[in-house]
Amino acid sequence: MKRKKIIAGNWKMNHTVTETSGFINEFKRNIADVDGVDIVLCPTFTSLQIAVDLTQNTNIAIGAQNVHWSKNGAFTGEISPSMLLDIPVAYVILGHSERRQYFGETDETVNMRLKSTLTTPLKPIVCIGEKLDERESGITEKIISGQLNDGLKDITAQQMNDIVIAYEPVWAIGTGVTATPEQAQEVHAFIRNLINEKYGVNVSESIRIQYGGSVKSKNADTLLTQSDIDGALVGGASLDCNEFVNIIRSAE
Ligand code: 13P
Repeated sequence: MKRKKIIAGNWKMNHTVTETSGFINEFKRNIADVDGVDIVLCPTFTSLQIAVDLTQNTNIAIGAQNVHWSKNGAFTGEISPSMLLDIPVAYVILGHSERRQYFGETDETVNMRLKSTLTTPLKPIVCIGEKLDERESGITEKIISGQLNDGLKDITAQQMNDIVIAYEPVWAIGTGVTATPEQAQEVHAFIRNLINEKYGVNVSESIRIQYGGSVKSKNADTLLTQSDIDGALVGGASLDCNEFVNIIRSAE
């Protein structure tokens, strides 16, 4: 099955509102002709509104970097799904390794966020990936299957159609060390196989699995031509307009 590639930029805690608008005005001109690739930009919460306003009627969708599971309430510092839809945002990243590492998120809270998100039109990008010591001790598959089983607990085959998975080996994030195309493909195939076992071939063949971790324009081509890599979740390189445009062009 031919899956449409999806390239998303995760800006993390970067870019003010002014910087966001400057970036998007240049970016949208440079990729206006791109067809056949889903393009997503995930700025900080404070830049979501300007990003959505500036990308009306373009080929760019906007995503948030996290969301809480509750509709509203006493959760200081959190944002609810309905608040994102009010902007309106199209995608949301869930379970990024930085959220897990620095803010105590677990597969269980990722699952709560995911279930809540799936009651809305927001499309979740669910991040999973092993740490360096886990890879070195040969338990990558165990970690990945644990994160998938627990993170996707109680999710139906029907709901799986709205989910994007991002495989981001933690040791490759922000380090300049990319997984080789073969290493990435091996884990992507493993993930697709697990999804096949749990949800059947229709879901496993249609779900998109992005790779993330030091994706740059110079390595995007070889990663994106692997048979089970359906896109990229790009951190640092998505802050540079030319770099990000070139990565998107590789996916085309
Ligand atoms: P880098 O591309 O900066 O390694 O970050 C990857 C990432 O964490 C995307 O979510």
